[in-house]
Amino acid sequence: MMKPLTIAIDGHSSTGKSTLAKALAKSMGYVYVDSGAMYRAVALFALRKGWVSKENGCDAVAIESTLDQVQITFELDAAGVNATFLNGQRVEEEIREMAVSHVVSHVAKLSEVRRYLVALQQAMSRNGGVVMDGRDIGTVVFPNAELKIFMTASDDVRAARRKAELDFKGQDVTFQEVLENLKSRDKADMERSDSPLIAAEDARTLDNSTMNREDQFELVLGWTQSLLV
Ligand code: DC
Repeated sequence: MMKPLTIAIDGHSSTGKSTLAKALAKSMGYVYVDSGAMYRAVALFALRKGWVSKENGCDAVAIESTLDQVQITFELDAAGVNATFLNGQRVEEEIREMAVSHVVSHVAKLSEVRRYLVALQQAMSRNGGVVMDGRDIGTVVFPNAELKIFMTASDDVRAARRKAELDFKGQDVTFQEVLENLKSRDKADMERSDSPLIAAEDARTLDNSTMNREDQFELVLGWTQSLLV
């Protein structure tokens, strides 16, 4: 049997990376890792300590010197859902709130934070069989991944999808706030000096502005299977 693949899915915010990655991992029997959840968990830790705010950025020294107190794990919760835990506490919903979305870019640009999380991420794919989504998976975390996908979609389509998700969760936000947040996160992701968001040279681009979930899944499953024959 062929060695299971490592699949890297990068791209702009709210392009449906995690939905696609989860479906692909499930169908292949691979592990799914949400690297963005790890940056969000560190941001939540810093937010609770009062070390980061949207307007004033973050206290880099305080955050970088306490990373050994930040334990991030993915565990099955009581309902059988794979959830993010921060120091033993389930934070899966809290890390998706706008309060965290507003500050996560400040934390994600810190080199010590990135080094710490990249090491954890690399340890999760010693033998392949992993689908990981994020911003630097195909460029930094797994430069040798067998399949790299770079996802994008128009700003309005992405904001509308994200707003619908937040509405469904009962979070009260305007379309404009969602649109501005995702544009500012894209800008921060693409302009930071450490591991900026950029498509790996060997990534396949997937613009899903006019594609539904099923078509995306079929396309990517085809790419995956073609690498296994
Ligand atoms: O995928 P997401 O939107 O949940 O990620 C949250 C933030 O974390 C995003 O604004 C950028 C950052 N991030 C990153 O810098 N590198 C990654 N591999 C994943 C996420």
